[in-house]
Amino acid sequence: MSGRPASDAPPGPEGLPAGGAMGASMANPGDAARFDAAAAEAGRELRTLRDFVRFGATRLAAANVFLGHGTDDPVDEAAALALHALGLDHTLPTELWAARLTESERRALLALLRRRVVERVPTPYLTRRARFAGLDFYVDERVLVPRSPIAECIEAGFEPWLDPGRVSRVLEIGTGSGCIAIACAHAFPEALVDAVDICADALEVARRNVEAHGLADRVHLLEGDLFAGLEGRYDLLVSNPPYVDRDALAGMPAEYLHEPRHALAAGEDGLDVVRRIVAGAGARLEPDGLLVVEVGASRPALEAAFPEIAFTWLELARGGEGVFALRADQLA
Ligand SMILES: C[S@@+](CC[C@H](N)C(=O)[O-])C[C@H]1O[C@@H](n2cnc3c(N)ncnc32)[C@H](O)[C@@H]1O
Repeated sequence: MSGRPASDAPPGPEGLPAGGAMGASMANPGDAARFDAAAAEAGRELRTLRDFVRFGATRLAAANVFLGHGTDDPVDEAAALALHALGLDHTLPTELWAARLTESERRALLALLRRRVVERVPTPYLTRRARFAGLDFYVDERVLVPRSPIAECIEAGFEPWLDPGRVSRVLEIGTGSGCIAIACAHAFPEALVDAVDICADALEVARRNVEAHGLADRVHLLEGDLFAGLEGRYDLLVSNPPYVDRDALAGMPAEYLHEPRHALAAGEDGLDVVRRIVAGAGARLEPDGLLVVEVGASRPALEAAFPEIAFTWLELARGGEGVFALRADQLA
């Protein structure tokens, strides 16, 4: 699966394309009837894994599901769901795609596909798996599905903004699944990483991922409100906080309604959390430290709120907008 952003359109809030898909808010009530009729026919007529991946892609496209949670095409999503239903993954040799499925396997596969099409559950919540910065993560509905374009910065060691060899302490605010903190720990193998979240449920998911990556000695999970209870200064402060404004939240595709609201919603202008991060970051950064924050489509509101700050907006080769970097001296 590609793991690329889900659209060529520049993402808006939390990876939403800035344009038309925002309007497609709720699932169509006719989806269930259409899906059930098609699935009954498929159950009778289709046989192989390849058949069912093709069928799944057709149903996803016909239902116009929103593709914004890790894959950018219906074939990838259908393949992920089909393989998961069979207890397999993408390493399955291609010659086995021609293998026939048993009746119970067909039923399991169609039931999973139905949840994606009719309930609009994002695929990573169904497979319990997401890729981020080339790494695997467990996910469920307690955390946002990992997709921040900050992944690209992490994979580049935040160069040219940071000297990776000089990063010894990293702070992530709003860690959710832990994906950014864990990817930073991989990118900076000598660094200690503090990962904060206000939500205890999210931290349980993060803990599972930290342990799976064998990083419990270097990634410390902390429950708290932004900087509360933190000590000392950091070389890098990174955050993908909630930043969806009230209007955008109201128009989100149904897939987003499965994500924790407190991971997305950030008040009238989308800046409830970001404003506090910008105001408090200077006191937590080393003199040559760096702040990197994703604010998506809330960029204009942020620039209006802090006219005295010259934000550097990062150009990301894999797409994504609204990620800024600031040196500590720009926050003083
Ligand atoms: C957009 S999600 C990002 C999750 C993860 N870092 C990612 O990129 O996939 C924002 C996270 O910030 C957390 N959060 C919201 N308000 C917070 C606060 N005041 N202090 C700490 N964390 C907060 C939410 O619980 C949520 O897990």
